[in-house]
Amino acid sequence: MTQEELKKQVGIEAVKYVKNEMIVGLGTGSTATYMINELGRRIKEENLKIIGVTTSKATSKQAQALGIPLKVIDEVEYVDLTIDGVDEISENFRGIKGGGGALLFEKIVASYSKQNIWIVDESKLVKQLGAFPLPVEVVRYGAEQLYRFFKNKRYHPRFRTTNDGKKFITDSGNYIIDLHLEIIADPIILGKELDKLVGVVEHGLFLSMVNKVIIGTKNGLKTLQNDLNA
Ligand code: A5P
Repeated sequence: MTQEELKKQVGIEAVKYVKNEMIVGLGTGSTATYMINELGRRIKEENLKIIGVTTSKATSKQAQALGIPLKVIDEVEYVDLTIDGVDEISENFRGIKGGGGALLFEKIVASYSKQNIWIVDESKLVKQLGAFPLPVEVVRYGAEQLYRFFKNKRYHPRFRTTNDGKKFITDSGNYIIDLHLEIIADPIILGKELDKLVGVVEHGLFLSMVNKVIIGTKNGLKTLQNDLNA
């Protein structure tokens, strides 16, 4: 089974948790794309009344093309269930997100969701976070200062760029600095440090946010439950 097939399988599996009349948070990325296609199919074939809350312009475009009714996060009181991909997930349900640059809206939508499901193929599972570069979204003014700060801390920063070498701009008009850390010894301490920095809008550490993880493996699907209140 290819990685794409595994992504498709978990996307389809996650949509089984969607019930009629739910407000559903729609994640961003290649895995989420399969989930959104499946949701569009179910809405059409089962005549479900669903409202989608998207996490990026790309996801809004896909959902609109499928005819999924949308609202923005401020138009709903809460989201029933958000389904999203993740770049790296450690054994204790901590994740890095933002490989697609949508971490800010993804974190906002996840924060107002009653349930969060992550969908991954098994390549995303790690013992310790950090091999995947940690995205930090920063405002443009003073971004070079933050870059220098990260460099001095030996966080191995790199501005994210587009194919033509220009700095990548997020949906909110900010830059992303990716920290090539290799190993994050303590994600909680690093998260707190990043939270305090002026000019940092958000970072890709999603530490206590997920309720369920659906993993596509070569031996079939696995679903892990995370009790956030334990
Ligand atoms: C988008 O910014 C990310 O957080 C994605 O959810 C994450 O990068 C997973 O993407 P893939 O499903 O494409 O690997």
